Amino acid sequence: MKGQIGVIGAGTMGAGIAQVAAQAGHKVVLTDTNSEQLLKAEKQINSSLDKLVEKGKFTEAFAKEVKANLSYSIHLYEHQDATLVIEAIIENLAVKYELFKQLEQIVAPNCVLASNTSSLSIASIGACLQNPSRFLGIHFFNPATLMPLVEVIPGVATEIQVTNFVEELITNWNKTVVVCKDTPGFIVNRVARPFYGEALRIYEEGIADFATIDWAMTQIGGFKMGPFTLMDYIGNDINYTVTETVFAAFYFDPRFKPSFTQKRHMEAGFLGRKSGRGFYDYSENAPTSKATENTALGQSIFERIIVLLINEAVDAVFMQVASPQAVDLAMTKGVNYPKGLLVWADELGPAWVLEKLENLFVEYGEDRYRPNPLLRKVVREGSKFIS
Ligand SMILES: NC(=O)c1ccc[n+]([C@@H]2O[C@H](COP(=O)([O-])OP(=O)(O)OC[C@H]3O[C@@H](n4cnc5c(N)ncnc54)[C@H](O)[C@@H]3O)[C@@H](O)[C@H]2O)c1
Repeated sequence: MKGQIGVIGAGTMGAGIAQVAAQAGHKVVLTDTNSEQLLKAEKQINSSLDKLVEKGKFTEAFAKEVKANLSYSIHLYEHQDATLVIEAIIENLAVKYELFKQLEQIVAPNCVLASNTSSLSIASIGACLQNPSRFLGIHFFNPATLMPLVEVIPGVATEIQVTNFVEELITNWNKTVVVCKDTPGFIVNRVARPFYGEALRIYEEGIADFATIDWAMTQIGGFKMGPFTLMDYIGNDINYTVTETVFAAFYFDPRFKPSFTQKRHMEAGFLGRKSGRGFYDYSENAPTSKATENTALGQSIFERIIVLLINEAVDAVFMQVASPQAVDLAMTKGVNYPKGLLVWADELGPAWVLEKLENLFVEYGEDRYRPNPLLRKVVREGSKFIS
């Protein structure tokens, strides 16, 4: 018999995580302080399961079983029999503290506790617990039912058995698990920053417009979406906030400096698709933005962004955030990159990547472009990142 799973917070992430666990055969209790939100989550999960039946992905019997695995409650004490409780409430440390303090009084002493936080440190949340050794981060991506990647983040106090247990459990939920260090942005939200930041910088320097940069990254780079289309999809408010949080958490390292352009779009309410206008206009008769399809220009845009992305991936490995394989897996499964950045570096040639970065560093004199020492070492040794 599989252990009972608790999920707290029935919003965007909590509802998805509850559905994933229920589909994996667990009894799941989803709680929220807001009963309307619980009803909404139940409706959303049921309709998602019905659609999967319509599409022929699930049998009716299986969908029924999944629905029966789920229960919804406003009472925290319903988590008393859980083997694992995942918190997915509002991103506020004080509120999370209050919740975990109460929860610790309810659950069994060996129940594993986790947070789905995107930006708070695991150490800081765990510090409110009497026993932080059973606490860690389990970071799903949105939508949790579809995105295969889950970052598992042990804090400094987490026991290794707890990490191993969670790694195995979530792998059995049909997810790709990467274990990473408790550092700002974990893997994906850290390594992906230059995809947005350097694209914005190229625009700000007047090198190319949004459509041309998007064209370069999709048609030359092979990315599924260009940076501006993706920022509009994510929402400029959310994307800007992640950048600002990572920038502050890295003690204002210029590599992560946020962009005025994005901030102004956010301030103007140009949030992206959800507000009808972001970098692009989504209103009905809006003129389509045309890219300047100049191959030499496109190639230079792609090269500038890809070397910065690679430098960031190398830094995550250099600083022991995760293994090269885990970093590549995270970027392909978490944000659908066409290739892992370290495999990409090996293909382009580490020496070529280093030369490009050095040229940018000399040209701009900014720390943002400083090549990572591990990249220098790999070039010096004539080795590769992924053998
Ligand atoms: N949205 C994303 O793309 C995303 C991705 C990965 C991780 N996260 C993280 O997941 C968490 C939840 O984000 P979300 O986007 O699902 O938020 P959301 O606003 O959609 O949902 C939060 C839910 O928590 C409930 N809630 C608030 N305080 C509560 C409390 N004390 N007890 C019980 N329920 C409470 C709210 O009623 C709401 O239903 C955050 O920590 C966020 O950083 C979000």
